[in-house]
Amino acid sequence: MSENKLLSLLKQMTLDEKIAQLMQLATPFFKGAKEQGQITGPMAEMGVTGEIVQNSGSVLGASGAEEIINIQRTHLEENRLGIPLLFMSDIVHGFKTIFPVPLAIGCSWDLELTEKSAEIAAKEASVSGVHVTFAPMVDLVRDPRWGRVMESTGEDPFLNSEFARAFVRGFQGKELSTDVERVAACVKHFAAYGAPEGGRDYNTVDMSERELRENYLPAYQAALEEGCEMVMTAFNTVFGIPATGNKRLMRQVLREEMGFDGVLISDWGAVKEMIPHGVAEDEKEAAHKAIIAGVDIEMMTTTYVKHLKELVEESMVDESIIDEAVLRILQLKEKLGLFENPYRGANPELESEVVMSAAHRKATRELAGKSSVLLKNEGILPLNKEQKVALIGPFAESGDILGPWSWLGSRDEAVTVKEGILSKTSHLTVAKGCDVETITDAQVEEAINAANDADVIVLALGEDSEMSGEAGCRANIQLPSSQLNLIDHLKSLDKPMVAVLFNGRPLDLHGVLDKTDAVVEAWYPGTEGGNAIADLVYGDVNPSGRLTMSFPYHVGQVPVYYNHFNTGRPQGAPDAQERYVSQYLDIPNEPLLPFGFGLSYTTFSYSDLKLSRETMTEDEPLDISIKLSNDGPVAGEEVVQLYIRDHSGEVIRPVKELKDFRKISLEPGETADVTFTLREDQLRYHHSDLHYLSDPGTFTVYIGRNSKDTKEHTFKLEK
Ligand code: BGC
Repeated sequence: MSENKLLSLLKQMTLDEKIAQLMQLATPFFKGAKEQGQITGPMAEMGVTGEIVQNSGSVLGASGAEEIINIQRTHLEENRLGIPLLFMSDIVHGFKTIFPVPLAIGCSWDLELTEKSAEIAAKEASVSGVHVTFAPMVDLVRDPRWGRVMESTGEDPFLNSEFARAFVRGFQGKELSTDVERVAACVKHFAAYGAPEGGRDYNTVDMSERELRENYLPAYQAALEEGCEMVMTAFNTVFGIPATGNKRLMRQVLREEMGFDGVLISDWGAVKEMIPHGVAEDEKEAAHKAIIAGVDIEMMTTTYVKHLKELVEESMVDESIIDEAVLRILQLKEKLGLFENPYRGANPELESEVVMSAAHRKATRELAGKSSVLLKNEGILPLNKEQKVALIGPFAESGDILGPWSWLGSRDEAVTVKEGILSKTSHLTVAKGCDVETITDAQVEEAINAANDADVIVLALGEDSEMSGEAGCRANIQLPSSQLNLIDHLKSLDKPMVAVLFNGRPLDLHGVLDKTDAVVEAWYPGTEGGNAIADLVYGDVNPSGRLTMSFPYHVGQVPVYYNHFNTGRPQGAPDAQERYVSQYLDIPNEPLLPFGFGLSYTTFSYSDLKLSRETMTEDEPLDISIKLSNDGPVAGEEVVQLYIRDHSGEVIRPVKELKDFRKISLEPGETADVTFTLREDQLRYHHSDLHYLSDPGTFTVYIGRNSKDTKEHTFKLEK
């Protein structure tokens, strides 16, 4: 349908029909849905009628080709102008084949596999009828108390931007209109949802505009540059105003400056939440603020359908603003080809073939292997298949390794650690040892019996999926005491111990790292988790994951992140006093494990850091090279990381900033020259007047295996 046809369709719509297009409700509200019929009560409570639903524009959370076809068919039979519905769902890290959680995916530093994981998720979702995914979530995160850090790729704006692009490419492909195996992406949550005060979900976000632009906006911008079709508003405030009613943020920053012209959707209930936030007296005022801010779709509250008409009649809202919102929604439907084929990729016959195929399982196993991070290894890993293993812990036989956003993933289909290890060796005894948050004497006794005869103890520990994700915040970020107790009991046996961790946030690992001989951070690894862990533990895969969020020494340090600023009284400065420096009296300033950290079964050495010149200009970039050698016994992959520091800026500059990286595979004994090119535009930052430019002066470039362990060289920028 041409733009003219869309405009003429818009002309035929009544004001009521237009407003209904802007409402998004969950699946059970729709005729043809499996659970339909149970909604009479909720519908009345929400103030909507069957007729309004019949005219609505989109559906939240439907999946399954048959159900979606049914809902669409019934809808089209009843909708006066035959306008198809858009089906939107949270397909965050896999549809039914579940990939590792995004924080784990970040640790892979593997953009190609990330893109592939999104492509597979899109394929499974689209064949099951979904048109739009509420992903990627690209919120920068620095506070591991916040339950949703596991939905982000971490604490670095450059890396998050690269991942944002990879996810969007994977979900949307190159030609969304003809490629029915892809889905439209909706980047979220705009903006700065990852910075709630105290790490408590939905809490206030208050930061300077410079900070917002410097660290938080780049990843959303990257997603938009990649063509991301939709944006979701955040629950939080930005500049003192909830994002969902923030006209300046949405109309000026997002649309005018960042160039977004797609559909903007509120987060769940966020329009009405402007009342408790304290910026709207009632639903009518909330609706007014949201539509003026440019929110096109209201998710799961009904202030628009209840009040927009009245607001137009009272000349509080110009009908052209509503037309604009409706047109954007119609344009997205057109882009997805829904006017020609309202069922798009939905295909019940293909569904069973595509979803959870062997190829998809293989891809998630590979990504899970690359996402896990080896945090410690005192020569105990990899295990050999002859060793007698006691596998102990609440995650030994648990399918709860998919993560909080895996609503369509089946725990029964997940490969447990026990199953993974059994595919490598039969020398295995298993005991639970404790539950996630409780422990009994009988469980301890069983664990000790299981371990008595073993050569090595493998502990499967962690947080259950309810302990992170949305509304899953914790003030104590250690493992629950039941599991720390279990470690203490088993430690008394004096046997080698390996801990494998399943969790959604960086933890304070005291009581784990210091008491075991090896630690593998497996995060929530997804459907093939157990196999991926066994691959790593037995050395069939050499660990290559590197942390993208610092692991604090203690929760009291939070937020603690590598790219922080210096103070006027830094620790360790030549003239530092003993007391009056920026420090804690009782714990170090440094995190326990830094950004970029991760071990391998082989040893990589770095030498010969060279710069092509000492001075960079706008037209003459620098080539920076280093020799990387695999000095160890096995092949492995290393993430070579390049950071810079701007010694003196117009405003203070981070002590280190990641600017580039390469993943390099080397055979034992092999050496590679790794060369980066650094340009002037990579040295730019937001000045106090918000202009984005670089300053001439001295810089240091660092290359190394993580943000702490680097080689360095200075250079000058001349302008
Ligand atoms: C979450 C969003 C999600 C939406 C729809 C909200 O509660 O914050 O991330 O996309 O629900 O499920």
